[in-house]
Amino acid sequence: MVTRRDFPGDFSWGTATASYQVEGATSEDGRGPSIWDAFAREPGTIADGSTGDVADDHYHRYREDVELMAGLGVNAYRFSIAWPRIQADGGGPANPAGIGFYRRLAEALLERGITPFATLYHWDLPLALEEQGGWLSRDTAERFGEYAGLVAAELGDLITHWITLNEPWCSSFLGYAAGSHAPGKQLGAQAAHAAHHLLVGQGHAVAAIRAERPQAAVGVTLNLSSVRAATGSDADQDAARRVDGLQNRFFLEPVLAGRYPADVLDDLGEHDWFAAQPPGDAAIIAAPLDFLGVNYYYRQVVAAGPAGQQHREFPGSEDVRVLDTGAERTQMGWPIAPDGLVDVLEQAHRYQPSLALYVTENGAAYPDVLADGLVADEPRRRYLEQHIGACADALGKGLPLRGYFVWTLTDNFEWAFGYSRRFGLIYVDYVTQRRTVKDSGRWLTSLLSGGTP
Ligand code: FCB
Repeated sequence: MVTRRDFPGDFSWGTATASYQVEGATSEDGRGPSIWDAFAREPGTIADGSTGDVADDHYHRYREDVELMAGLGVNAYRFSIAWPRIQADGGGPANPAGIGFYRRLAEALLERGITPFATLYHWDLPLALEEQGGWLSRDTAERFGEYAGLVAAELGDLITHWITLNEPWCSSFLGYAAGSHAPGKQLGAQAAHAAHHLLVGQGHAVAAIRAERPQAAVGVTLNLSSVRAATGSDADQDAARRVDGLQNRFFLEPVLAGRYPADVLDDLGEHDWFAAQPPGDAAIIAAPLDFLGVNYYYRQVVAAGPAGQQHREFPGSEDVRVLDTGAERTQMGWPIAPDGLVDVLEQAHRYQPSLALYVTENGAAYPDVLADGLVADEPRRRYLEQHIGACADALGKGLPLRGYFVWTLTDNFEWAFGYSRRFGLIYVDYVTQRRTVKDSGRWLTSLLSGGTP
């Protein structure tokens, strides 16, 4: 059984959220529209037809949420800053009201001994920038660097841990290839251009934060999945190489080793475009980091096609098959594989063995029911226990793992699933905004207090 004593005393224990998923108040205090405001309004994009207009009303209830975190016993909180609160149309000076909100949040956290980890981009691009090409335009990368510098200048006295991007794979391949996320485009392999500009933007952001705040700890968060071939056949091995390539190596390698994997550029058919990019890009993207954030949810067991269903999120490899191996799944349909967390941490670690690692997201959706003031979510508790156990295993193997953040604090707007998927340690009644700590949250508290969970 895993206990807090299996971890170093200075280990970061946190929860993670993202601005559009929790804040609401989408048109208050000078916040401009984001691509998610626009996308959620298009018919058929969000499973329950909802938007993030109100979400958890965290913008007004952040003090209550910080108290809930303190009650959980965590010592870190990963949240994201909404770019359109800082620059309504993606440029110009910082909006004092937007900065003010994040200052108050950071102060409230620090008062409770909770270290803020701020993500600068968790998918809510200012809509004005999308209208100028979004991440398909190189200019967006430059703008992102400017925005990062502004925020570090304004908030860097309070916030010392920065994450530039959250999951650029989702922003590029779900946003521009699958079309299931904002901005909802289906452009096939051109999505890789968006990925490149996101990565150039992340490099500019690292440089801009360091210029303002030389002492800051800066990292980027990638969503890695554990990929295995269904069989040892050449065809299935090739399918696994492709999925691992697009999902993991296409981001790990440029950031940590300064080059794109040539086999993935082949799969995408994008060698020429990449060869035509400015030669300095590789060094910008590979700007040295203080840590890597890893979001881990599942393992994919893959086989050669043809797939019954086309995987648009893997351009050039759409016909790979992702198999149902019979593994237990969460409500998202994601197969549970705690040892896969060790796999992906080891994979990242091989590129830069001295780089600190954080699990910046991990968690599970289940159809929770609030009854008599309680939420009995044993499957989530077990999921968390198994994955925290995997973190202990990673430490046992000598990996430099420094923290673990549960996705998520409060049930919230789960992107294309709207409010139909609950990931929180805390249940939210969306009518009354009443929060109720679930059994999994109570379990985390007892784990963190050092007692027997
Ligand atoms: C991740 C996202 C996060 C949340 C979880 C379930 O991909 O970063 O915002 O939606 O999935």
